[in-house]
Amino acid sequence: MTSPPYDAIILGAGGAGLFCAGIAAGRGKRVLVLDHAANPGEKIRISGGGRCNFTNLHVTSADFLSANPHFAKSALKRYTCHDFITLVEKHGIAWHEKTLGQLFCDGSSRQIVQLLLDEAKDATIQLDTKITAVEKTASGFRVSTDRGAYDSARLVLATGGPSIPKMGATGFAYDLAQQFGLSVIAPKPALVPLTFSGSDAARYADLAGVAVPDAIVSYGKQRFREAVLFTHRGLSGPAILQISSYWEQGAREKPIMLNLCPGLDDLFLALKAAKAAHPKQDIATQLSLHLPTRLAKRLSEIGFAEGRLADLPDARLRNVADLAQRWALTPMGSEGYAKAEVTLGGIDTAGLSSQTMEAKAVPRLHVIGEAVDVTGHLGGFNFQWAWSSGFAAGQAL
Ligand code: FDA
Repeated sequence: MTSPPYDAIILGAGGAGLFCAGIAAGRGKRVLVLDHAANPGEKIRISGGGRCNFTNLHVTSADFLSANPHFAKSALKRYTCHDFITLVEKHGIAWHEKTLGQLFCDGSSRQIVQLLLDEAKDATIQLDTKITAVEKTASGFRVSTDRGAYDSARLVLATGGPSIPKMGATGFAYDLAQQFGLSVIAPKPALVPLTFSGSDAARYADLAGVAVPDAIVSYGKQRFREAVLFTHRGLSGPAILQISSYWEQGAREKPIMLNLCPGLDDLFLALKAAKAAHPKQDIATQLSLHLPTRLAKRLSEIGFAEGRLADLPDARLRNVADLAQRWALTPMGSEGYAKAEVTLGGIDTAGLSSQTMEAKAVPRLHVIGEAVDVTGHLGGFNFQWAWSSGFAAGQAL
């Protein structure tokens, strides 16, 4: 039996696939990367507002959601954020910490794509290639495409999840998992804006564009303190995106709780004190000391607490304070895969080796990146998973 021309074919030229290709090719492996897109690393290019939040200084496995919360530990330990920072610096890419350990390029996210391409220079990267079939052969795998068939000893599935289909994202990884008998944890859009229910939509419709820079959003045990943004259809901003990964649609009895001015222990007490000190002050003026002006005005209207503080009974002040600090929101849904930064769920880690990302039931098939049921919080964690899981597989090819 002759050995196949490639040691590995990697399906998907995103962050995980390209990084894995660089690691394996750097070890002398003959690597072919196939992708149906016209350009590699498209999600990297658009990430982090064009500056790519490429990792986070505080990565731990607690920053990831997975049916097995321990699965990511090994890969994250073997290729850390510091390893990637060293690589970024080796390529002369200037970076900065924005907030909460989130590292961004000073320049453009295209620098990260170029870094990956430079590292993978010894691999063959073939784009614009439609994959029509994948089969197991005696010597490994055969990948049939609209540009011919390719054989390899090993196969790496790095085609990501279905988030942002207009960028070429597909559920291909799940179809292939099904073909090879790997189980899939039900996928769902995550890191996604949430949409209001009917009554909330009417109440807050005119607040689109208002940003609350410091808010606490909680759901069950989860709690995130970051910015919140009102949109035309609901809420977005980092704190909402984070909580969206935990929010279960249909769990009506369990609303999302918002505190839109967490800097104050108790807004009600602050309003009462203001009423005593400045009785002629308009409540919206007082509220705007703690909230964006448009939101302050709208909350005073919704809480039936308009006009001078002196004219408002404490119960009205309480209404407004509760709206601002204890808003129980039951979203109607989310903006779905069209706007989701990532996909929750994916190929079940129970069927994969945490050391090599190899499928236990299908020797020499590896799965990396977002296709796996490992989903990071917002803040550079998802790219770190792409690098760490790509490294784990790249070492094993
Ligand atoms: P990825 O989706 O990147 O790559 C998969 C590749 O497979 C693509 O090139 C695709 O074309 C190809 N493919 C798919 N189906 C195929 C098929 N049927 N045939 C052939 N090829 C196929 N994360 C982070 O840590 N920091 C950040 O700043 C951001 N910002 C961000 C912004 C936006 C708008 C989005 C949508 C996402 C982010 N993310 C992020 C998340 C991050 O982009 C994501 O987790 C990684 O790109 C996942 O890398 P993968 O390589 O696994 O998949």
